[in-house]
Amino acid sequence: MTDEPLVLGIETSCDETGVGIVRGNTLLADAVASSVEEHARFGGVVPEIASRAHLEAMGPTIERACIDAGVALSDLDAIAVTGGPGLIGALLVGTSSAQALAWATEKPLFAVNHLAAHVAVDQLEHGPLDEPSIALLVSGGHSSILLVRDIATDIEPLGMTLDDAAGEAFDKVARLMGLGFPGGPEIDRIAREGQVDAIAFPRGLTANKDQALHQYDFSFSGLKTAVARWVEARQAAGDHINVADVAASFQEAVVDVLTRKALAACTDFGVDSLMIGGGVAANSRLRELATARAQTAGVRLRIPRPGLCTDNGAMVAALGSRMVSAGVTPTGWSFAVDSSLPVETPILSGTLLD
Ligand code: KG4
Ligand code: ZN
Repeated sequence: MTDEPLVLGIETSCDETGVGIVRGNTLLADAVASSVEEHARFGGVVPEIASRAHLEAMGPTIERACIDAGVALSDLDAIAVTGGPGLIGALLVGTSSAQALAWATEKPLFAVNHLAAHVAVDQLEHGPLDEPSIALLVSGGHSSILLVRDIATDIEPLGMTLDDAAGEAFDKVARLMGLGFPGGPEIDRIAREGQVDAIAFPRGLTANKDQALHQYDFSFSGLKTAVARWVEARQAAGDHINVADVAASFQEAVVDVLTRKALAACTDFGVDSLMIGGGVAANSRLRELATARAQTAGVRLRIPRPGLCTDNGAMVAALGSRMVSAGVTPTGWSFAVDSSLPVETPILSGTLLD
């Protein structure tokens, strides 16, 4: 017997239907059904298609996770679900399913923050998070630097993107170069053949004048425009474009700024542990540069394996497990999803029923 909590987590904030099961920090099942291929021809996630795909995938994905973990729903200690941020219709499919499950099984329900879950997932790979940690959270919708004192209760945002998220920049630049969707993995792959210093693309918000107000903030829309202008100018002149060099130089501009600012936050706040999470943390060059720079700075670096960086249910279960251990009050069955839930709110509060 173990007294570590057995938690099932449901994730439906975007285009992945994820159901994970953990016991404490041990991953037992991570079932993911993705609708990404249904969105590819539109060049981005279509919310209505995502919601319908979640509806179809939910039952089978829950069943698969329970079979993989060898547990019955009645064995669970708690259920966790993404309560926001994300696409409203997609979130509603996940939360409705979780509410029904919690109601039927009489288990406590935690409606948790997707962004905090991207950080909490590393517990499954490297054990309890170091406290405090600096977390660099880089996904398709968000890019932030966080001071995390306790992932279940105490997250302080130090900076965020003022315009595009890092993953969004990858997706937009991939689209303008005629590469597939999602663009991050495509650019990551093609960039391996290119030179990182072939083209000097701008590093947003790194000038001295930006340090007072935007030391830990990001801006990627100027970079995206610079890539577009560079490509257009070459096309107009009829010049050959080396796509691998463009991809490598663009990617370098993104990961240079991300790692530089995250490690500066470690130094400035006297924190010797850096966690990197979110879909962009799967990027091979980001992982390589962060490893080198963290070593130089004497900072412990924690990045989950790529499969746990992109959206999945295990990350939600991991945060739920941490909530149970920390004694956080469950959300309960009655709550409203929040499509723009701020990163510093790890869990939704319940609303009282009449
Ligand atoms: O965390 P995530 O799966 O979903 C959100 O919460 O947004 O992140 C998806 C984002 C997409 O923009 C995708 O292009 C990016 O993560 N991404 C990558 C890589 N794999 C996924 N970006 C760069 N390199 C990768 N290998
Ligand atoms: Zn995500």
